[in-house]
Amino acid sequence: MCGIVGYIGNQDAYPILIKGLKRLEYRGYDSAGVALLKDGVNVYKKRGKVADLERHIANKDVGGTIGIGHTRWATHGEPNDTNAHPHRSMDGKFVLIHNGIIENYGRLKKTLEENGYTFTSETDTEVLANLISYMYDHGATSFENAVQLALKKVIGAYGLVVLSTEEPDVLIAARKGSPLVIGIGKGEYFLASDATPIVEHTNSVIYLSDDDMAIIKKGQLTLKTIFDKTQEPVVQELDLDVGEIDKNGFDHFMLKEIFEQPRSILDTFRGRVAKDNKEIVLGGLYKVIDDLVQARRILIVGCGTSWHAGLVGEYLIEDIARIPVEVEYGSEFRYRNPVIGKEDFVIAISQSGETADTLAAIRMAKEAGATVLGICNVVGSSIPRETHAGVYTHAGPEIGVASTKAFTAQVTVLAMMAMVLGNKKGHLSTERYNELINDLTVIPSKIEKILQQNDKIKEIAKVYKDANNAIYLGRGYLFPVALEGALKLKEISYIHAEGYPAAEMKHGPIALIDENMPVIVIATKDKSYDKIVSNIQEVKARSGKVIAVVTEGDEVIRNMADHVMEVPDSCEMFSVLTTVIPLQLLSYHIALMRNCNVDQPRNLAKSVTVE
Ligand code: AGP
Ligand code: GLU
Repeated sequence: MCGIVGYIGNQDAYPILIKGLKRLEYRGYDSAGVALLKDGVNVYKKRGKVADLERHIANKDVGGTIGIGHTRWATHGEPNDTNAHPHRSMDGKFVLIHNGIIENYGRLKKTLEENGYTFTSETDTEVLANLISYMYDHGATSFENAVQLALKKVIGAYGLVVLSTEEPDVLIAARKGSPLVIGIGKGEYFLASDATPIVEHTNSVIYLSDDDMAIIKKGQLTLKTIFDKTQEPVVQELDLDVGEIDKNGFDHFMLKEIFEQPRSILDTFRGRVAKDNKEIVLGGLYKVIDDLVQARRILIVGCGTSWHAGLVGEYLIEDIARIPVEVEYGSEFRYRNPVIGKEDFVIAISQSGETADTLAAIRMAKEAGATVLGICNVVGSSIPRETHAGVYTHAGPEIGVASTKAFTAQVTVLAMMAMVLGNKKGHLSTERYNELINDLTVIPSKIEKILQQNDKIKEIAKVYKDANNAIYLGRGYLFPVALEGALKLKEISYIHAEGYPAAEMKHGPIALIDENMPVIVIATKDKSYDKIVSNIQEVKARSGKVIAVVTEGDEVIRNMADHVMEVPDSCEMFSVLTTVIPLQLLSYHIALMRNCNVDQPRNLAKSVTVE
């Protein structure tokens, strides 16, 4: 998920690699490392920033004209010096950098251990390094063939570059699901996970496709697939300046992260949706799952967007698994005197894993004897370290202060958790369980479709950019979406916005409605549809402006509302994941039109580590 650089040519590799890693820093990372090939391989790696790595390397041997470098964003094993990349095989012959997740690393590791391999890190990447070594010793005809044989065994996503002391004049790169670009210089090649580190050296690039592998020597590049089919390299001209590609062509990290959601949700599924979509396996919960199924209640704690995800979690777990759930703000929970004991389960939800209020809440719950679980994005952060068990969201680094892809990943994990619990408790028939897995796994393609409406949503934003207030309404599962939509608007555009359960409007907020009040109604076709149609009528009767999020083809609301944003029909329980997308885009465009700093809104920090 993070950054890769590589160099092979006649220049010193080290300065090129370090500069390249600095160019990749914008992606967010927790450790960095390089390997240089020169009479053997020198590997240097360090938790922290590229500058920490440079300090660590000062005065060491950095010679060599072939090398690889990596910025890691941990998915398997906490960020520390040992887990940082590059990783060496046990025999020291193969050195690898990898972005992505090897889903079947557990099984592969077991087989390798049975064959005498030992591991120094907790990463999935080290398993791959040893798998290549194993293949090299068991039937592979060359380094290249060993990489092919190993990758054929791998399930998951990778962008990788590997070098070997056995063939010290070659770099091998391969990709599946995680991007890799090769820059072509004069008798030299540059490799990177995006063009940022390459653009200052050359404009000629080759983008690898899934299953491609490149075998690169100083003046020669061979492209084939891991199945040994020769590929014709397609050389393209880069027409980008560095500033532009820092955000992968998007103007802001927030927009990039909104558009990443189909992929980030797939990353959340990775390794967890098993047996051809017939089963969900949450490895991180295996120690506690039998007790969790018996829980008398579950408490969810979080702050901000993570609290909204928690509210969705309450609906999902009660609906699917029939376990009572309460949702608490970390900041409130810690200062009241909650009834909590050893038979309780607490789930802390946090993108950063560092939010002070959430952390304090779990410490309190632990002290009271509760079992504490985490749903976090940043691997190795404080909350996962202090919880008994948990599930990582694997959404990749979220850099925009306004949380977008972390929210959909949290909801995805909660949905999976509810299904596992519902199944184990016997509340889901096999048929219903399979149906739900299917409904959840089609969500990324539905989001893909919603994102195509970006330009249309921009037009709607133009109409409301000068509003001073807005109300967001939703019912059932869509009430938390109303809260989340309102928070997104508030935090990046500074427009005052309220999220409300649609039926509560008549108990107060309806007094606010006049021709200047935009009311955003999330009104997809679910069991409260008729009720919400009445709520829209109540707003229209008072001259309010209605922007409705509706199910594709809904003519009834289209004829009533001032604007509609359509989402594909989906299972009610998972409609949170589709309906929130247009609201993220709407806030983004409004904020931009108001000249607000979208990625770093005033007064806010990405991770709130103070009370
Ligand atoms: C969301 O857009 C916010 N910036 C904020 O509410 C955030 O969700 C909250 O601070 C919690 O952060 P966490 O998920 O890292 O714990
Ligand atoms: N899964 C690998 C790890 O945890 C790679 C993570 C990345 O993409 O940076 O080390």
